[in-house]
Amino acid sequence: MLPQALAVIQGKGGVGKTSCTAALSGLFAAAGRRVLAVDIDPQANLGRDLGYYDEVDARGDGGRALLGALHGYPVEPIRNVRPNLDCVSAGDATEELTHMLTSREMRRPGSAQTAIADALTPLARDYDLILIDCPPSSPLLQKATLSAVQYVLIPTRADDASIDGLLKVDSLFAEVKGAGVNPSLHLLGAFLFGVGVQSKRISDDARQAIADCLGGDKHVLHTQIRYAEGAAQDCRRLGLLPHELEAKLPEANRARFAALRARRAGGGRHRADSDTRISGSAAGLAQDYSKLAQEVVARIRVHRQAQVSA
Ligand SMILES: Nc1ncnc2c1ncn2[C@@H]1O[C@H](COP(=O)(O)OP(=O)(O)OP(=O)(O)O)[C@@H](O)[C@H]1O
Ligand SMILES: [Mg+2]
Repeated sequence: MLPQALAVIQGKGGVGKTSCTAALSGLFAAAGRRVLAVDIDPQANLGRDLGYYDEVDARGDGGRALLGALHGYPVEPIRNVRPNLDCVSAGDATEELTHMLTSREMRRPGSAQTAIADALTPLARDYDLILIDCPPSSPLLQKATLSAVQYVLIPTRADDASIDGLLKVDSLFAEVKGAGVNPSLHLLGAFLFGVGVQSKRISDDARQAIADCLGGDKHVLHTQIRYAEGAAQDCRRLGLLPHELEAKLPEANRARFAALRARRAGGGRHRADSDTRISGSAAGLAQDYSKLAQEVVARIRVHRQAQVSA
């Protein structure tokens, strides 16, 4: 088990796992921690959010680093995706990794479980935090991840299907922790993702549902990530994190107003109109992620203090 590793996991797709992994990794790195962000979802969207997708796609080596580890090669991350932030990419080879683990598991049940921990252990000492973006399906990869990490963070939307996904993770969590595979596994908590800032009743009901599923309010983070589809799309399109997008808002607004002025003056359509437009919701979204990062750090600190005094 890697004591500084955190899995962002859910049994349902599209609930914010990748967006949150990217934003938190970037914020922790910007705060001076040495961070490794690991993508084990063949969709490889972490690379889009962090802006390294095109480079990896052009080389065609997405997922090779982790696959290589199964053959005994050391994992070589992509260095300096941001200052203090290295990444392990996913891609087509991640599918191959899943197939290999499946056949390994069929030959020798339980043998696939340590694959992620074995792959990451040799480089773990270089990092203060390791965040792992999990796929929504593939219980085998999810289980291998839960066997490798100390901490679990569950994003969820407010709908029933997402709460169902949360329940799936909860059973997997109990299985990995209870069977003695990884008794140190600790649930940092679940949080609501993509809820409207005005949707109080929806978020209150969903928070109650999460608390009921996970065994109490203490497992529900105070922070919620607001619904901000425009800003989220801008982030992924530009390979920028919400706080980076927010920093570009004033410049983008200036360019937009300049374009408007040029159009009024008969200058025709300006490039800034479509290319540099940034959603105004970037600021609120960045604020939510900053709160999430603080709450996650606080919860890790409380857990570590409890461990020391135990
Ligand atoms: N704050 C937000 N508000 C609304 N939509 C968002 C927000 N953040 C991200 N999205 C959008 O929600 C979708 C799902 O986000 P994301 O990829 O982070 O989820 P995921 O759980 O990793 O999905 P998957 O299971 O496919 O890996 C994306 O299209 C993304 O652009
Ligand atoms: Mg994802």
